[in-house]
Amino acid sequence: MTKTIRTAAAAFCLLFVASCGSDSNNSSSGSSTTTTTETTAPAAETPANSPSGVGPISEVKLNHPLNDGMVANGKSVYELKCASCHKMSAEKLVGPGWKGVTDRRTPEWIMNFVMNTEEMLNKDTAAQKMIEECMVRMPNQNLTETDARAVLEYMLSNDGKK
Ligand code: HEC
Repeated sequence: MTKTIRTAAAAFCLLFVASCGSDSNNSSSGSSTTTTTETTAPAAETPANSPSGVGPISEVKLNHPLNDGMVANGKSVYELKCASCHKMSAEKLVGPGWKGVTDRRTPEWIMNFVMNTEEMLNKDTAAQKMIEECMVRMPNQNLTETDARAVLEYMLSNDGKK
């Protein structure tokens, strides 16, 4: 990664942290002119920590055995839209390597992350932890549910699931 990209990424992260940091220190230290009742903290985004993540997918039915056609489609989607940032090994590129991702995360979490990336990065605690490590926010790749499900099949296959 070049220095400029790193700096830009860091700035982006700071921006993110700033925008998501709680506004709890709106100091009410000034001399009292009017005391408003509107000082209740804004409804802060509560961190979400569900194993399913946040998003449209509440349940994924897995295929046993894996569906070969879906694995192949998932591989094509990966090569087109994901390979620039993700390796199939455990090695980090821009984002984490995908080896073992289906052991780290539930199928629902993975699909929600792919289909609802912004909200996941804003709310899901595990996703937020990755931003700190990767210094980049993954852009939403606008996959259809079918494509997202195919990529999941490909990840399962890569992890040796049957
Ligand atoms: C521009 C780079 C980029 C592209 C392209 C990209 N990602 Fe990511 N991805 C990331 C980063 C960075 C993270 C870590 C979270 C963060 O910092 O936003 C991540 C995290 C993930 C994770 C969670 C991994 C884990 O270990 O929990 C999944 C799943 C994922 N991406 C799926 C995809 C899929 C599917 C595609 C293609 C359709 C894709 N990504 C394309 C950058 C990218």
